Formats: sequence, C-alpha cells, structure tokens
Amino acid sequence: MGETNRAPETVTRVTSSVYPPSLSAPQHPLLAGRLSRVCLLILLTGTALADEASIRIKDGAGKDKVLANCISCHSIDYIPMNSVFLDRSGWTATVNKMVKAFGAPIKDEDIPQIVDYLSRYYGKG
Ligand code: HEC
Repeated sequence: MGETNRAPETVTRVTSSVYPPSLSAPQHPLLAGRLSRVCLLILLTGTALADEASIRIKDGAGKDKVLANCISCHSIDYIPMNSVFLDRSGWTATVNKMVKAFGAPIKDEDIPQIVDYLSRYYGKG
C-alpha cells in the first residue's frame, strides 16, 4: 500500500481490489467477462426502457392518436423503421392489419387521423 504515487501500480492495485488475489489466476478473465456481459445487458435493457418512456416520434396532428393506439403491443420504433417501405396505401393496409389481423382496439374514427399522420411524417418519399 506504500506505492500510491506510482501510476502503473495504482492501476494494478485497483484491479486487484476488484478481483481479489485470493481467486486463482485463470478465474480472473472469465469472471470479469461474465460480469461485464451481465452489466452490459442491464445497461442495454435500461436504455431500451428509457427510450420507450420518452417516445420519440415527430410532433404533428394525430401524434396523440398514434401514441394512444400503437404502442401497446410493440415498440413505436416499428413506425420509423417501416417509413422507408410504406406510402399512404401501405400505411392504410398496415393500420387495417393491426386492427383486423392482430385485434388492435382502434376506434374507426381514429383511423383516418392515424393514417394521415403516418403517411405525412413517415411515408415513403
Ligand atoms: C393488438 C396489438 C397491436 C397493436 C395495438 C398495434 N400493432 Fe402493429 N403489430 C402487431 C403485431 C402482432 C405485429 C407483427 C409481429 C411483429 O412484428 O411484432 C405488428 C407489426 C407492425 C408493423 C411491422 C410491419 C408489419 O406489417 O408487420 C408495423 C409498421 C406496425 N405494426 C405498426 C402499427 C401501428 C402504426 C399501430 C397503430 C395504428 C400498431 N401497429 C398497433 C400488433 C399490434
């Protein structure tokens, strides 16, 4: 503990205080690998949840209807992800499919506003 003013050895000491020397040498890298993978997983999950909580789709008429109707089953990311493929008729078909095939409980009168929003802000060029 007397060598604190020598930088390289400080680093070594920090490492060995995390993985105590009592562990046998071959366990160190394995243990470190598993731990960091678990940490990474927790970090990624946390990020995904945070993104979902602060849902980012463009502001505009109909956004509230989309948020109210399109996030209960899957990520809102489905919308920007599919914006390269779907034009107005594609979005109409997709919204109808959500209702008819997947049972999305969307009110008939909300559908035109949702389709307007999707094709205006996320319609294929
Ligand atoms: C009742 C549940 C449900 C609701 C509500 C819902 N969806 Fe879906 N959606 C699904 C399922 C199931 C799939 C297909 C499986 C998958 O990819 O997860 C899907 C897939 C999609 C896809 C991928 C492309 C495709 O056709 O499969 C898009 C885009 C999409 N939904 C948009 C929407 C929009 C926009 C809304 C709101 C109007 C919405 N969804 C509401 C269940 C739902």
